[in-house]
Amino acid sequence: MTITESVQALLSSKGRVIERFYEQFLTTYPELERHFEDRDLTVQASMLTVALASVEAYYSHRFFATEHYLKVLGHRHYHEGVRPEDYPKFSNTLLEILEGFLGDDWNPELKDEWQQALDLAIATMREGYNETYTL
Ligand code: HEM
Repeated sequence: MTITESVQALLSSKGRVIERFYEQFLTTYPELERHFEDRDLTVQASMLTVALASVEAYYSHRFFATEHYLKVLGHRHYHEGVRPEDYPKFSNTLLEILEGFLGDDWNPELKDEWQQALDLAIATMREGYNETYTL
């Protein structure tokens, strides 16, 4: 399975896989719960599912629109007080969730692609910490 096919599988799951992501993320890192106290995690999961499609599209195609979107997203996370050291926690949990969801389709190459895609997305979001980016 390619990273593009894995995103299509995620989108078909309509956010339910990513709802599990938030449960596991906040159980593993309870110190981050304070960020999500007033959030509807079902809505959040839908937004994150779509954002992961942009993470993959930027990794695979370097589209300018996805780069700009990731900078805007980063700027919002800056205002949300998300610290740089929180991002690897996010990536690690996501890789675990993807492994469980994709089962036999998960393999070291796909894991490596997702790691690279997330590293690139996070580096781009971090650029959004330094300047104001709006849609
Ligand atoms: C690659 C990493 C990440 C991606 C792709 C991502 C994606 C998203 C998306 C799409 C939203 C919704 C934005 C909107 O309202 O338009 C969001 C909101 C949020 N994210 Fe992340 N996120 C990432 C990392 C993190 C991390 C590490 C934290 C740490 C706690 C975090 C905390 C939050 C919070 C608290 C919100 C709610 C902000 C609001 O509703 O205004 N995110 N994120």
